[in-house]
Amino acid sequence: MYQLKLIGYPIEHSLSPWIHRQLLEKAGLNGNYQLFEITPEDDFELRLQELKQADVAGFNITVPYKQKIIPYLDELDSVAEEMQAVNTVAYRDGKWSGFNTDGAGYLRSLETAYPDFSESLDKRILILGAGGAARAVYYALHARGFTNIDLANRTLEKAEDIAKMGNANSKTAILNLHEAEKNLLHYDLIIHTTSVGMKHMNPEPLISIKELKPEAIVSDIVYQPIKTQLLLEAEKHQARLLYGHAMLLYQAQAAFEIWTKQRIDVSQMEKDLLEILEGR
Ligand code: ATR
Repeated sequence: MYQLKLIGYPIEHSLSPWIHRQLLEKAGLNGNYQLFEITPEDDFELRLQELKQADVAGFNITVPYKQKIIPYLDELDSVAEEMQAVNTVAYRDGKWSGFNTDGAGYLRSLETAYPDFSESLDKRILILGAGGAARAVYYALHARGFTNIDLANRTLEKAEDIAKMGNANSKTAILNLHEAEKNLLHYDLIIHTTSVGMKHMNPEPLISIKELKPEAIVSDIVYQPIKTQLLLEAEKHQARLLYGHAMLLYQAQAAFEIWTKQRIDVSQMEKDLLEILEGR
């Protein structure tokens, strides 16, 4: 019996229960995945104790607690340690272990949609933004062996801090958003990682697209709306697109694998999720 939870606030509209209940069903496992909301007024430690005393196999943890959870865990895997952020916790052998599957989820989404992309690792990649999601994506691409990953952000220091994760073989240029906009033509893959363009916010994209390399992939991790202004502009320039729901789904696939040791094929779920989000 796999008792799984999602911790965060607010989480009532989260798609994770839909995803994980289907994964349980596809895996043929008995279990459930429930919301465990911790509000800002709650005593975080007390609520966690409550959760730990319940017979849970693991949980996901989302905004705003991805860092806050760390002191309450017994160990972190190397990725979560590097990120200093956790999105998945598993209870095993009497220990609470923290993982971060966001980067792996992004990489899986990319390689599923575009299996040829990783054939040459000298592709030029631009990451827009320098928050937690950018860090996870940078780390995963770097670990995969890509060496030409540039970062563009409003606050340059934050991008510089992420670039420190690179090694001597990697060449990371730091750009401001204006420079990024002017240089899009050089990139094979452009990944937008901020929340700019999300539903109920100003739909104006972080940068506008004037010119792209032929066959470039433009990727947005925002999935509500599924087709952001950035992706609409990219489409007008004949870019290949990567939608944000895929990262959401594959980070869940990777978390589920940590809990159950089963990797479930999510190709049909990817189509279904797209349809759900198009209807929202
Ligand atoms: P997360 O951890 O979810 O990725 P975050 O840490 O809040 O989110 O990071 C948000 C990113 O979006 C940052 O790169 C931020 O830019 P700054 O580093 O300059 O703050 C970027 N961002 C958010 N809103 C923005 C806006 N209106 N214009 C430009 N950048 C924005």
